[in-house]
Amino acid sequence: MCGIVGYIGRRDAVGIALKGLKRLEYRGYDSAGIASCDAKGVVFLEKSPGKIASLERKLKHIPPSILAIGHTRWATHGEPNFENAHPHADCKNEIFIAHNGIIENHETIRAALTQEGHSFRSRTDSEVVAHLVERERASASTLEEAVTRALSYVEGTFGLAVISAREPKKLIGARRGSPLLVGLGKKEYLLASDAAAIIGRTRRVIYLDDNEMAVFTPSSKKIFTLAHSPSGAHKEIEKDVRTIDWTVEDSQKEGFGSFMEKEIFEAPLVIENALRGHVLAKAGEVKFGGLDMMRDRLSQTNRVIFVGCGTSHYASLVGKYFFETFARLPAEAVLASEFRYQPPVMDGKTAVFAISQSGETADTLEAVREAKRKGALTLGIVNVVGSSIAREVQAGVYNHAGPEIAVASTKAFISQLCVLALSAIYFGRLRKTLAALEASAVLSELLSYPARARRLLTDARSDVDRAAEAYHKVDHFFFLGRRYNWPVALEGALKLKEISYIHAEGYAAGEMKHGPLALVNAGFPAFMVIPRDSVYEKTVSNIQELKARGAKIIALATEGDDAIAKLADHVIRIPKLREELSPILSVIPLQLFAHRAAVLRGCDVDRPRNLAKSVTVE
Ligand code: AGP
Repeated sequence: MCGIVGYIGRRDAVGIALKGLKRLEYRGYDSAGIASCDAKGVVFLEKSPGKIASLERKLKHIPPSILAIGHTRWATHGEPNFENAHPHADCKNEIFIAHNGIIENHETIRAALTQEGHSFRSRTDSEVVAHLVERERASASTLEEAVTRALSYVEGTFGLAVISAREPKKLIGARRGSPLLVGLGKKEYLLASDAAAIIGRTRRVIYLDDNEMAVFTPSSKKIFTLAHSPSGAHKEIEKDVRTIDWTVEDSQKEGFGSFMEKEIFEAPLVIENALRGHVLAKAGEVKFGGLDMMRDRLSQTNRVIFVGCGTSHYASLVGKYFFETFARLPAEAVLASEFRYQPPVMDGKTAVFAISQSGETADTLEAVREAKRKGALTLGIVNVVGSSIAREVQAGVYNHAGPEIAVASTKAFISQLCVLALSAIYFGRLRKTLAALEASAVLSELLSYPARARRLLTDARSDVDRAAEAYHKVDHFFFLGRRYNWPVALEGALKLKEISYIHAEGYAAGEMKHGPLALVNAGFPAFMVIPRDSVYEKTVSNIQELKARGAKIIALATEGDDAIAKLADHVIRIPKLREELSPILSVIPLQLFAHRAAVLRGCDVDRPRNLAKSVTVE
């Protein structure tokens, strides 16, 4: 997704903005730019398609400045080139803006402004904001007044940074539907679309909410609500200051070849963090401060709907099984992008859980808003503290999995499964549909998972590498599983396709004979997730179906299951696990396999083509 950085203060504004953009590279982009202003109001603008390194070479001539805004663009309107790169300027090259989001009525605005004599340089929706501010600035008394008026014409979403040569000591940020946070330094202020851009300078932040605007000078910071109409006024408000709980070091690779590899190997720590402070194994109880404050409402819940996208949706599919098994609650997992257009029937007794690592996925955020409009209780399982979804749900639980930098989600998925399992047990105990003894047994098994994950990461590595060596050149792959491990198969397929670009399909193993089997010919590779569980025999017959057509089988099987070695071409072992909880660890070898295959194919593992870490546009 696009990235925004802004700086005002006594230091090298351009250098700080550039450093911030580099920290946002992981989010995916195709062009970048920086606009700056010196104390006399002389502005400099440099933009470049491609990587930030080519922008950096162009910045060398820019003199020291106190004010700068930077942007990394992931194209939504207009191809990735110089003209379409941000920051965009007004007609007179006095006002500069960097924008994240989508201006839905940009064509109408562009036509009206063109009619009024404005000339446009790009094909982007964003550029209209620069010209709107220019037009409003003619009659407004301050830049912030011009910005708030201009934004009252905008339909759609924005995370925005604005500077002007006429007010070279002012930095403005505004937000509606696309994340933007304020960094509070020592006599310096920063703007960013993602905390990773500024944690090197400050960990004290303010998260702007929708329709809020921040106005900085080198010695002052004010936050306003945006005016609702061109004649409306922006009103000053107070906001909480939060402290980011991870440092730059956290987000470094710590010796691993990629963020993705580092994050896969964080699984033991992530499980510990997900369980920490919530598990009373002996008593068979789960403590959730974020949910305890609404126990009465929760005890009336008679249905759960999970909303999420991608990996978070697959976690939701496991969550459905958890809630139906441990809480005996009817549950369904709905793709957020579908939920909001055909919202299921719901009421005050429906709990809608939003599952999101970033907490900024537009479809999931809109699904939360739709659920609230329908009177459902909205809960969140989110990793990024203070993110939009975390702030818009009525209650929830943070994963505390630390920053997940790689575009491919790995540790967050495992953390989501742990929190979902705890949540299901919490509901089961609250509704008295889960006995304390049973809950205690499940919780005790969960507490053993960090150590078992650590052992699995070591034990499985060589078998995974052997399988990746054998199959990294193929064009197609099946990932198959049943029951709790069907979502694991879906997730394994997503991991492989999104970072190695091998076409991979995840399927319920029982579905093969209903069509997909037609694809299988000699040498067709299939990953079969086949722990010793209640559907083991059925899954063995699926392997036989595939083998009869010449398929190659990589079996993810329970240690000690020797029979499987006679059937499969490769065997990767996982420990003996409680069936319901097995996805928490069975996904790890699939993550390792996808990572290894992508490395062997020379892919950019952390920043796969066409993808972004957080999809903040619909
Ligand atoms: C997962 O590897 C992908 N990066 C993607 O499917 C991701 O899970 C999805 O975009 C949802 O993101 P979220 O969890 O931040 O909402």
